[in-house]
Amino acid sequence: MPVSIVIDKLNGHDKEGKIGKINKKVGDHLSIGEILFTIESGKGALNYKSTWEGKLLELTISEGDIVSKGQSVGRVEASLEGNAVASEKKTYNFGLAKPEEKMLDVDVLIIGGGPGGYVAAIRGAQSGLRVALVEEDRLGGTCLNYGCIPTKAMASSVSALETVRNAEAHGIFTGAISLDFERLMARKESVVDQLVGGIAHLMEANGVEYVDGRAVIDELGKIKVQTKRAHYQFKYKNLILALGSKPSILTIPGSERSDILTSEDLLSMKKVPKSLTIIGGGVIGMEFAFIYKALGADVNVVEFLPQVLNILDEDVAQVIRDSAHEKGIRIFENAKALSIKETLDGSKLLEVEIGGEVMSICSQEIAMAVGRKANLTGIALEKLGVSLNERNNGIAVDGFMRTNVENIYAIGDVTNKIQLAHVASHQGMVAIDHILGKGHEMDYRFVPSAIFTSPEIGNVGITEKEANQQQLDILIGKFPFMANGKALTMGEPDGFVKIIAKADTRVIVGAAIVGIHATDLMAVLANMIANETSIDDAAQIIYAHPTTSESIHEAILMLDNRGIHFA
Ligand code: NAI
Repeated sequence: MPVSIVIDKLNGHDKEGKIGKINKKVGDHLSIGEILFTIESGKGALNYKSTWEGKLLELTISEGDIVSKGQSVGRVEASLEGNAVASEKKTYNFGLAKPEEKMLDVDVLIIGGGPGGYVAAIRGAQSGLRVALVEEDRLGGTCLNYGCIPTKAMASSVSALETVRNAEAHGIFTGAISLDFERLMARKESVVDQLVGGIAHLMEANGVEYVDGRAVIDELGKIKVQTKRAHYQFKYKNLILALGSKPSILTIPGSERSDILTSEDLLSMKKVPKSLTIIGGGVIGMEFAFIYKALGADVNVVEFLPQVLNILDEDVAQVIRDSAHEKGIRIFENAKALSIKETLDGSKLLEVEIGGEVMSICSQEIAMAVGRKANLTGIALEKLGVSLNERNNGIAVDGFMRTNVENIYAIGDVTNKIQLAHVASHQGMVAIDHILGKGHEMDYRFVPSAIFTSPEIGNVGITEKEANQQQLDILIGKFPFMANGKALTMGEPDGFVKIIAKADTRVIVGAAIVGIHATDLMAVLANMIANETSIDDAAQIIYAHPTTSESIHEAILMLDNRGIHFA
């Protein structure tokens, strides 16, 4: 009997979605469970699976078409009816069908689909393991959906804006510049969607059983997921907890207000606020400060410690302070946020203590960027018997990402080691390798960081600050971008490359770059540091001219005061 193919489900409360990849053509045979096509929406890609055995008679959609819930998009000559509607008159509400009971028996069950979980899933499946991954939100975790990627998409739009604003220096006159914030945010969303859809595709392509639902640990330590379509029970040999983190909220009077923004809110604003005060001058706070200032907000940053970006060296932070000052971002350091109140006109007043004096900062919005905390409460970890670290702020793990419970691993932000996507991904691969019996331990010494302030920052290995704390005898080579031809042609003279080597061994152990291309250039130094390259070997490497990378060579030469273009 011919039945209609009806769009019975879209992501979340979406009313419409876009047809992504279509895997079948008219005349093809369909099997139950085969993916017919994907539907993309704001919340990611959804696989539309066949629930029939039969022949595809008609498909009225093409890739890129917009479809809505309930729409009929084709017909199947089916021997089995599932989420189909008989083409004549019968309608069938699939949402009310009894969920299927499914028992999945896997080698590795992963909870959490962020850069830790999804990378572990791919590596496991590539290695021949049967892998299931459970994610209740969109694939990609914080990084793709509420962190690195959307922020960088916004930062890239801001960079385009700045280029246009500074075009006159190049003799280019554009007339009045206007900003369509809604469009800027829509672009950011589409970048995120594309990447999230890409991960869904990778799960599929690698044969990972991806379950879109919330994992629940029952009394016996068994794990189940209940979705509208199916109730899953998992039988697993190994469990990887990749549960991620959430923004921390500072508990001061007024911080319980629902209109205090988090980094996630700053990524989904409908309008650029007139003014914004950010509590916390760490990585998140400073990235958003530059973004929202460029978009037109009046921005204040309140940092408790004596230095914004406190993990970095003072000279690096100074470049950022100078740039912030020039752009009109007000930075308050050594400043303790005390309370938040509302003014008569609905603005927010942040009371701050600086050097024993209390002052008030008034702004339309207040955002918090005071760190992130591991997701330890969303799931009943105690039922698994998993221990926390000595500070009780992350799951305790060893170098192979093993918890105290045999065959249970934890990776990513939930371990609270270093909260970076690339660390989580690496931890995921280390965990899988350990499951496969070929172990190498995590090594946190050479983790690079990339911070997208303006200018941007790259950092790897030991900082000057840390070297001094450890009383190491070091050499420092520093070269300013002001003396680099390529940086000057681009009108980007701010910042420098700084390289740290041990005085006795002459091995390069740390580097910081602040300035143009810093985050990409850092990879060169990360390689040198991980390979324990000496100053003498590094000095022999030839860099293309004219590139900003020549600054690395010059900074290496400066370790022996032999720089060519700087005295
Ligand atoms: P963070 O730890 O980098 O910075 C939080 C800042 O808030 C600190 O400087 C702290 O001193 C300050 N603070 C705390 N309490 C305060 C108070 N009462 N008043 C004023 N200031 C106060 O945390 P952030 O920026 O929220 O980032 C969270 C995590 O995400 C970090 O581990 C960060 O490395 C990571 N991340 C990394 C990115 C990158 O590498 N590009 C981008 C975004 C986040």
